[in-house]
Amino acid sequence: MHKPIRKAIFPVAGLGTRFLPATKAMPKEMLTVVDRPVIQHVVDEAREAGIEHLIFVTGRNKHVIEDHFDVQFELERTLTERGKRHELEMLAHDQPGAGATSFTRQQLPLGLGHAVWCARDIVGDEPFALVLPDMLHHGNRGCLAKMIEAYNEVGGNHVAVFEVPDSQTNQYGIVGRGKDTGKGAFEITEMVEKPPRGTAPSNLAISGRYILQPEIFDLLAKQGKGAGGEIQLTDSMLKLAEAQPFYGVVFDGKIYDTGSKIGFLTANVAYALARDDIAPGFRVELEKLLKR
Ligand code: UTP
Repeated sequence: MHKPIRKAIFPVAGLGTRFLPATKAMPKEMLTVVDRPVIQHVVDEAREAGIEHLIFVTGRNKHVIEDHFDVQFELERTLTERGKRHELEMLAHDQPGAGATSFTRQQLPLGLGHAVWCARDIVGDEPFALVLPDMLHHGNRGCLAKMIEAYNEVGGNHVAVFEVPDSQTNQYGIVGRGKDTGKGAFEITEMVEKPPRGTAPSNLAISGRYILQPEIFDLLAKQGKGAGGEIQLTDSMLKLAEAQPFYGVVFDGKIYDTGSKIGFLTANVAYALARDDIAPGFRVELEKLLKR
């Protein structure tokens, strides 16, 4: 029996420079894909996977994320007075329970590895999920749920991967594919960050969902700056992989990088087209636009 995955870290302290000026005063995680903020979409994925405690590593200008997951007393009273039952039910459904969220500040955006390390005391000595909110995973079944299922069978560390064209492997962290566990995962033989063209061990790219053992924190504590002058999670994962097994879980849905403008716009179109209440009318408008 492997220790259960109860907690998930959401690093949301990045500056979102690719989305300026939208992100000057507003966190990119609060930009909406259809009618839900990006961060709500990934929290939905974590809750579907059975995660009990949501840990947000925030920074300056990010307090609105904390407000979003809090009860909005005045709003709820007004909705009650106006008889807006549907809206009230939706808010209640999305509301994490009391004590089920934690917020800590990264203080300085020193890199993803540093952001994860900032959550060490809240996570404690147990394996945890790490969810990069920018990367929306859109499929019939949540990516994290599938990963936790695979983890429960074999333990260890897991990363979700997706297939990218050979011409793009130099833009991602790429894993080597070893033996299949027969339980929805495969053994990872190597991990290479942005391999030069023609040297990638496969076309399976790390997509932004992880299950990590707590030993990663000691490695992150000692981790020096890496690429881009930032403390890189990948550098510590490579060290952890010398001592512990890593597995890959292939995500076969669509992945949108909402931290980039094209990814964000495409996600909006894809999520709208997947919604029964919006798709018919939206499709008509899209077709008119494309005909111009
Ligand atoms: P990104 O590099 O995609 O995010 O980091 P960014 O720095 O906000 O975006 P750009 O490149 O300037 O537009 C991946 C994830 O790691 C978090 C980000 O919030 C994002 O979820 N992150 C990154 C931190 O929490 N802290 C950091 O120091 C760096």
